[in-house]
Amino acid sequence: GLMDQLAGIQQREKRLSEFLEIDRCLIVSGNCDEQVKVIEIMGKLVNDTLQALLPEGRNVIAVMGGTTMARIAACLTPKVAEKRDLLFVPARGGVGEAVDIQANNVSAQMALRTGGKHRTLYVPEQLSEKAYEPLMQEPSILEVVQLIRGSNAVIHSIGEAITMAKRRDMSEESIDELKRKRAVGEAFGYFFDEKGRIVYKIPRVGLQLEDLANMKSVIAVAGGVSKAKAIVAYMKLAPRQTCLVTDEGAAKVILKE
Ligand code: BG6
Repeated sequence: GLMDQLAGIQQREKRLSEFLEIDRCLIVSGNCDEQVKVIEIMGKLVNDTLQALLPEGRNVIAVMGGTTMARIAACLTPKVAEKRDLLFVPARGGVGEAVDIQANNVSAQMALRTGGKHRTLYVPEQLSEKAYEPLMQEPSILEVVQLIRGSNAVIHSIGEAITMAKRRDMSEESIDELKRKRAVGEAFGYFFDEKGRIVYKIPRVGLQLEDLANMKSVIAVAGGVSKAKAIVAYMKLAPRQTCLVTDEGAAKVILKE
């Protein structure tokens, strides 16, 4: 019956969080590789999770870009903003994505959906070392970077290494290097191998992996059979307080069911 089914889901969620060594996993049925609708159900869960996790009052929420994040943004509701002041910021400067899935856009969408505010990070895609320094002295940029690094919550996705490298127009040489170093996943612009060792980093301003340790709530949203390997690899370096919102497609592969 329904109760058995529910108990089964909870057990699998527990097994997955134990396996990945993180606080919490939420698994929706289906495989988002095959059904885009599955991402909407994950989006509803993200909406619920934010309501449950965020403290009352002021919250600064750093968000990443990507197709998953763009779809999650569309699922958020004003409920998240009840008794709270929400400020959404992009977690990192541009990492070579199409405008509609850039972190700046995702954070603006999340603010729009919840009734919160947002700040934009105006940092160009290609930046030389020489241009970087003076830019970081700009009060308007520095201010947003400080907001990002001091945020209390982060929402992000996880990608497959080579897929993400190609989407971000990385050079042939860099892609070959990633292959040689056996990169399997990418998150926040960091590429890592199966063991969770960082093998490459896109140099960009904003959130750094070490900032995650101080974040109260970290929500990772990634599903689909195709992302199973990347999820496992990333969770080796993810902070314990991560809550993973995923689907059966990924969960079954990870748990070898
Ligand atoms: C972003 C992450 O949120 O999602 C990236 O920060 C990741 O690092 C990307 O690669 C995945 O994109 P997509 O389109 O598969 O959701």
